[in-house]
Amino acid sequence: MKQVKFTPPPPKANLIGHRGIAASAPENTQASFRLAAKQGIAWVEFDIRLTKDNKLVIFHDDTLERTTNGSGWVHEHSLKELKKLDAGSWFSPRFSQETIPHFSEMIPEFHKLGLFLNIELKVPPKATQQHCDALSSALIDDLLNNWPSDAPQPLVSSFDWVILASIRERLPQVPIGFLHENCSAKMIEMVANTQNSALHCDHESLSDDMIALCQEHAIPLLAYTVNHPEIARNLINSGVYGLFSDDPQRLLNPLGLT
Ligand code: G3P
Ligand code: MG
Repeated sequence: MKQVKFTPPPPKANLIGHRGIAASAPENTQASFRLAAKQGIAWVEFDIRLTKDNKLVIFHDDTLERTTNGSGWVHEHSLKELKKLDAGSWFSPRFSQETIPHFSEMIPEFHKLGLFLNIELKVPPKATQQHCDALSSALIDDLLNNWPSDAPQPLVSSFDWVILASIRERLPQVPIGFLHENCSAKMIEMVANTQNSALHCDHESLSDDMIALCQEHAIPLLAYTVNHPEIARNLINSGVYGLFSDDPQRLLNPLGLT
């Protein structure tokens, strides 16, 4: 059995708040991350993307319409323009003060909250090489210059594996998560041959055989997005390492984590 070195998880690590606690607060906002800490969910996932002026913001979609009062592509706006938008009212009027978080400014806040982080890198469709390089450089700069030396390394994931390779090249100590909608044997073999890495797949693509193969190779397998208690229990009992959930608190009891 191949041993893959992987950064040890915090307590209750196998539950990861998806975009913070997306079920109860506007996704990828400070309110969502504070709520995770308040609920005792130690690990959160969030998405980052590049602005027009090469800053990193915490935001899921390519465009602004669904979760803000703005419109258009995120990467065609400057940080200053994005910071003026309301990123909470779409969810509920009581979150109208929420703005799109600037990743650098959130780093001390995340550590104050004691959260372990999964940073997912997003790129717009048909992103240029220049865009991808600027995105990975911006994250690497933050990790090198602004990351507290006593804080655990974040798990950095992406559907774009070329970006992950560029991060691995410059920061080999940072664990990486290979994201894919479908889990396959070929993919498992590739992850098994990459030190300090994990595989993140859509839970609907996972068969018992694939889960067993990950276990055989000692690969941490993380499944998204799991909100149903029975599905969560089956996945964890089958050997899935971690679950992304919009409502992780709801899964604590069924998983025997309370
Ligand atoms: O990182 C797991 C999951 O967040 C991937 O899908 O679209 O929610 O970012 P998405
Ligand atoms: Mg994500």
